[in-house]
Amino acid sequence: MLVYLKIICFIGLLHSFVSSANEDVYITEAPAYLTPCEIYKPEFTKCSTNSVQKVFNQLAKGIPGLKVGKPIDPFVIKKLVYKQDNNQVATISANLTNLVTKGFAKTIVKESKVSKKDFSWETTLLVPNLRVDGHYKMEGKILVVPLQGNGEMFIECDDLRIKMYSKTRLYEKGGFTFYNVTSVRIDIAISKLRTRFDNLFNGNKEIEESTNEFFNENWKDLFEALKPVLIKTIEGVLLGQLQAYFHYVPANFFVSDIPTSEKLYGKSN
Ligand SMILES: *[C@@H]1O[C@H](CO)[C@@H](O)[C@H](O)[C@H]1NC(C)=O
Ligand SMILES: *[C@@H]1O[C@H](CO)[C@@H](O)[C@H](O)[C@H]1NC(C)=O
Repeated sequence: MLVYLKIICFIGLLHSFVSSANEDVYITEAPAYLTPCEIYKPEFTKCSTNSVQKVFNQLAKGIPGLKVGKPIDPFVIKKLVYKQDNNQVATISANLTNLVTKGFAKTIVKESKVSKKDFSWETTLLVPNLRVDGHYKMEGKILVVPLQGNGEMFIECDDLRIKMYSKTRLYEKGGFTFYNVTSVRIDIAISKLRTRFDNLFNGNKEIEESTNEFFNENWKDLFEALKPVLIKTIEGVLLGQLQAYFHYVPANFFVSDIPTSEKLYGKSN
């Protein structure tokens, strides 16, 4: 179950990036909320961190001019289907519906580093508190606990720390330089997880209570055990979302002195 919850945490985040698959649609004027930074000047990371923070503040309200850009807080996910059967610690099938995620508006961008060498990114985010309420239906097994149920649930995590490593390839479009995000790798940590699943085991109250208790007592072990699978799933989704956003917003609006792709890679590329 925790798997789903984490995924939800992330899906909520993903939403911050706009999914517009069309690479031909892009903006040509810098949004007012963005401060361009100069990468060859000292204090770039400070400027960049501040700029990316502004992006998150703006995302909380919705990005102006973006058709698909809805506010991230609260963020509603209609349906999430999850299946995992290739792991020793968990065999689960779950469907989560009408999920309401709250907390991303308070995302703190701790650091946004950009490499001068290859323009890859290293981003550190902190979400102080994230809560997801919704309906679940699942069957399977986590560790030694067989699970089956259908009802309301919530998951709440404190201090969700996300370390994101993104690789990019620069390209030119309409006189601007854009980031083509080619890979995203993340690591995650939390300081506390609280969960509650009503109607576990389809109404057997006794097992329901002890299982909920077990989850809350052992959230750390479960989180660690399921992390690799979790991260892999999230990265796949993140990559698609980031690609869409950065095909839309020129890299020049983040890094005003970014070299052109020709300058960075040479003419033959
Ligand atoms: C989840 O929904 C799919 C159809 O989208 C269904 O095949 C699957 O059995 C459902 N899983 C559970 C646990 O209800
Ligand atoms: C982005 O990179 C992928 C390969 O990683 C490539 O297939 C795609 O054509 C690139 N897109 C642009 C606009 O350069």
